Amino acid sequence: MTFPPLLPALSVTPLAAIEVERRHLLAASALVLAWPRALRRCADVPSWEQFLVEAPKRVGELAQGKSAAEQDAYLYTLASLAAQIESVPGGKLSAFARLDPKVLFGMLHRGTPFFVVEWRLEPNAVLPAHCHPGASVCTLALEGAAEIRHYEVEPGAPAYDSKSEDAFTLRETRRQRLRPGALSTLSATRDNVHGFRAGAEGARGIDITTMHGGDGSFSFVDFDPETPLDPKLGSYEALWIGQEPR
Ligand SMILES: [Fe+2]
Repeated sequence: MTFPPLLPALSVTPLAAIEVERRHLLAASALVLAWPRALRRCADVPSWEQFLVEAPKRVGELAQGKSAAEQDAYLYTLASLAAQIESVPGGKLSAFARLDPKVLFGMLHRGTPFFVVEWRLEPNAVLPAHCHPGASVCTLALEGAAEIRHYEVEPGAPAYDSKSEDAFTLRETRRQRLRPGALSTLSATRDNVHGFRAGAEGARGIDITTMHGGDGSFSFVDFDPETPLDPKLGSYEALWIGQEPR
């Protein structure tokens, strides 16, 4: 993309040139002044409490978007705010299912347009891959280290809640090391399945979840993440297994 120059070509009379230049300088000044305002707005959300107050104001309208592009605009704006959070206070956590090493969850905030779940993975804990129908998630890592892997369901798969025992194909779309400050997002239409594997020191983070028509139901996916059907494609044979991980 080519941007127009701030100053016009010198093919005008001197007086006109001065006037045009003055207008451009005013426009440029307005632009420069706008940046610090934007930066000050960013600086307004350094604490967790301020994030919970300011972020919904900033992203509330974007959260209403229905298209994939609108959801991404929402998620990346939310992520840009989450990236500035100084620290996140820990809440009360409970062990999920019978996973061993333990995976612990706690509701940290319920609000509109999002709610926030804190998670802690014990050393080497695994939270198996699961889907988020009609929802988006912005994951922010806070402590330790973990690997997060995202997947998408290939067309033709049974519905996640169909109780079908028919296998389907899952395709890996992203693999990322989560370290403190790292962000990873999924939307209702992309990267919607994710799973976590903690490193030797365990990991802690939050998931900022927004419903885009979903009702909160989901399913874990049973597959072997180390045995792809096709390593080049990153495809896996998978089954929906409901809300109890294996
Ligand atoms: Fe999740």
